[in-house]
Amino acid sequence: MKRILIFLILYFCFIGEVLAVEITRAVMLSNSCAACHGTHGKSPGEIPAINGKSSRFISQALLEFREGRRSATVMGRHATGYSDEEIQLIADYFSTLP
Ligand code: HEC
Repeated sequence: MKRILIFLILYFCFIGEVLAVEITRAVMLSNSCAACHGTHGKSPGEIPAINGKSSRFISQALLEFREGRRSATVMGRHATGYSDEEIQLIADYFSTLP
């Protein structure tokens, strides 16, 4: 019983650690978007807001920008800097923002 308890405690500590690292990474990657899309993706101007849009919409758009399949002024260049995994982290992050 004691062993199971120790195992569970360690297990949840580890999972918590992994989640925290992934969230921090997502926030760091998403900081570069704020210059144009506004803080937390809430654009105050002409550039589209990206907060609260579905993760699928954001990841799809970034993949298309990266591969030159979606017309862009700057996004084509910006999106080339991210791997598939990073795009997913960024998309998931913005989709959770109100
Ligand atoms: C230098 C300014 C700039 C930066 C930095 C930038 N964007 Fe953009 N973004 C734009 C502009 C401008 C558009 C409109 C398409 C175009 O002209 O490139 C756009 C369009 C988009 C769209 C499509 C929105 C829609 O409704 O069609 C998404 C999604 C997006 N950006 C996500 C991001 C993410 C995520 C980041 C950070 C990783 C980011 N952008 C960084 C300027 C920027």
